[in-house]
Amino acid sequence: MKKAVALLGAQRRQNTFRLLGEIGEILAKHGIALEVIELYRYDIQFCAGCDRCILNGECVWKDGAEELMERLAEADGVILASPVYLQQVSGKLKTFLDRTCRWYHRPVLTGKPMLAVASTKGSGLKKTLSYLESIAVQWGAMPAGKVGRTIFNQDRKISEREVERFVCLMEQPERYSPSLGQMIDFEVQKSMALFLGKLDRAYWEEKGWVDRPYYFPCRIHRPYALISRGIGGLIRSKMKGGGKEDPTHP
Ligand SMILES: Cc1cc2nc3c(=O)[nH]c(=O)nc-3n(C[C@H](O)[C@H](O)[C@H](O)COP(=O)(O)O)c2cc1C
Repeated sequence: MKKAVALLGAQRRQNTFRLLGEIGEILAKHGIALEVIELYRYDIQFCAGCDRCILNGECVWKDGAEELMERLAEADGVILASPVYLQQVSGKLKTFLDRTCRWYHRPVLTGKPMLAVASTKGSGLKKTLSYLESIAVQWGAMPAGKVGRTIFNQDRKISEREVERFVCLMEQPERYSPSLGQMIDFEVQKSMALFLGKLDRAYWEEKGWVDRPYYFPCRIHRPYALISRGIGGLIRSKMKGGGKEDPTHP
């Protein structure tokens, strides 16, 4: 049975929690189990901003964030859910997201679909959902939909349609088609990995991403591949001009 893990950034079990309950019912119909993790029940320290996780691979804190990152890595799909607080995700969720900083350099959730979920009284929904979606891209995951409710439509049940992309990509991740922006992001991350950190370079080489157009086998638009590869080559030749060797063009 496939398993999705939802991180909930709400203190109380009300609007956002309820949305997850409804999503869980739909997923169950497709044979997908949903585990909801309430972030407020975990001790999660603020990122110390020391860069140690990026440079050395380990965090100074040994707390709930490390455990949660392992649980996300084991899931087949991820849901990030938050109430809108001052036009953004809740502080608790943001604190956790900051702790995943090393995943920008050495992505772990590649090939996993991610659903963004948020609830609000009236404002900030679009911004918050877009922010959550941008996290999926930074993690190398697959943005697979946005579900949101305000007080004007909070009684409307979540429909199959709202989560169908998430379900479809959990079942067939190879059907994903990255956007041009995502493919360019991939090349930028690749260039940074190859030139700026030994750990990152070894990780990207071990994953076999250096010569690939994207993290995992999926539907690649050929023009996107040509454009992003060209941009990646340009970035790396600039870096090479700065005295660095280009590992993709020995
Ligand atoms: C600290 C705080 C900040 C909030 N900021 C906003 C906001 O910027 N815009 C808005 O429309 N609602 C805002 N709300 C309302 C919540 O987003 C809304 O009630 C949400 O559905 C609560 O979700 P929950 O029941 O899962 O906690 C805020 C609520 C709190 C407690």
